[in-house]
Amino acid sequence: MSAPPQHKSVVSSSGLLNKDFALPPAQTGAEIAILPEKPVVDWATTFKGVLQGLGAKVIEGNDCVTANTQGILWVDHGPKNVPILEKALQVGTSVKWVQLPMSGINAYAAVVKRYPHLIWTSAKGAYAQPVAEHALTLTLALLRHIPLRVRADCWGPMLGYSLFNRRVLIIGAGGISLSLLSLLSPFTPRVTLFRRRATEQLDLSELPMTDEARSLVDVQGLSKLHENLPQADVVIIAAALTADTHHVIGERELGLMKSTAVLVNIARGEHIDTPALIKALREGQIAGAGLDVVEGEPIGDDHPLWNVDSSHNDVAGTNSGMWGPVKKGGEGRANLIVTPHTADTLDMVLPLFTRRFTQNAQALMSGDGSFEGVVDAEHGY
Ligand SMILES: NC(=O)c1ccc[n+]([C@@H]2O[C@H](COP(=O)([O-])OP(=O)(O)OC[C@H]3O[C@@H](n4cnc5c(N)ncnc54)[C@H](OP(=O)(O)O)[C@@H]3O)[C@@H](O)[C@H]2O)c1
Repeated sequence: MSAPPQHKSVVSSSGLLNKDFALPPAQTGAEIAILPEKPVVDWATTFKGVLQGLGAKVIEGNDCVTANTQGILWVDHGPKNVPILEKALQVGTSVKWVQLPMSGINAYAAVVKRYPHLIWTSAKGAYAQPVAEHALTLTLALLRHIPLRVRADCWGPMLGYSLFNRRVLIIGAGGISLSLLSLLSPFTPRVTLFRRRATEQLDLSELPMTDEARSLVDVQGLSKLHENLPQADVVIIAAALTADTHHVIGERELGLMKSTAVLVNIARGEHIDTPALIKALREGQIAGAGLDVVEGEPIGDDHPLWNVDSSHNDVAGTNSGMWGPVKKGGEGRANLIVTPHTADTLDMVLPLFTRRFTQNAQALMSGDGSFEGVVDAEHGY
């Protein structure tokens, strides 16, 4: 690949630049710590120069935080090192801002809630474009039966669905969902977005999409999910993982879906009850699933998801034997795609995250309050 992608951040109203966070400007030489010391991915060297360029004094090392430290750039993802962050926050009595590198902060929600007076910023919306692209990829591949065809080594029946004018449900209305609306726009689907703040207006006027596609979007709360599921052709999960969205798709929801519908999850594995999904795929309750995220990542080679044999299903309901005729290599996991959390790869993430934390470090140094991706400590995203 030659030219690198130039993705843009897509921030929803929950993560907009927020001038309400104006602070006294930090002095040149204000301490910003990069933690933890040995991040899973060694981003620290690249980031140090950026912070120094803004006039900060960069400190590093798990015990580097002092009573003078004003900001923390956290560069780890999983929950393992959370105790290091907790300790830093206990010592760092002057810390005002903490930047987290991921957009889904579920693994950090408890510590964020314990320090609600701090300005916590995440990468919400920053990775929206590549992740939405991946969601569309999975959707089209499932509708066109690509998992079946890449396994087949013989001719097959004429099967496949077009995305044009379909009924699409998107759980979540944040950066990824908004970016996805733009990508879906040429297909003019009827889209329902489900969000927590369903009664607040969601401004779609600036989104690059056609007026026709825009007119086909409506917004609901999760309490309306069940009544919408029976009409859906595509269900895409793109919400934050919280107590309210944990297992948002389980046995009951899968039972409400059409046998021709497909399910795509690019948010968090815990949004789906995995055993219920496996059962639904095996029994042909739904036509297929595309998962970029799975409960308990990374899953082992013996995980039941690798053995979802759906070859006996005729999920198209056409009696043409949608899976059946492909005997030579097409059988097996014919209606499931699992990608290993690659909706946003490191190459895609690095420039986007650099822009996000640079914006926020500038907000700290200038005191103008223009933080982007501010986390709602109470609601955990
Ligand atoms: N696969 C990957 O590599 C990858 C990459 C990036 C992100 N993700 C996941 O994708 C998620 C979304 O990312 P984003 O950047 O779009 O985040 P975001 O801008 O923070 O959006 C989060 C969305 O979740 C919605 N939500 C929260 N609680 C809800 C509830 N109870 N019912 C319905 N909707 C609810 C929010 O509703 P409101 O609009 O009402 O606030 C908001 O629209 C992240 O949290 C992360 O877990 C995965």
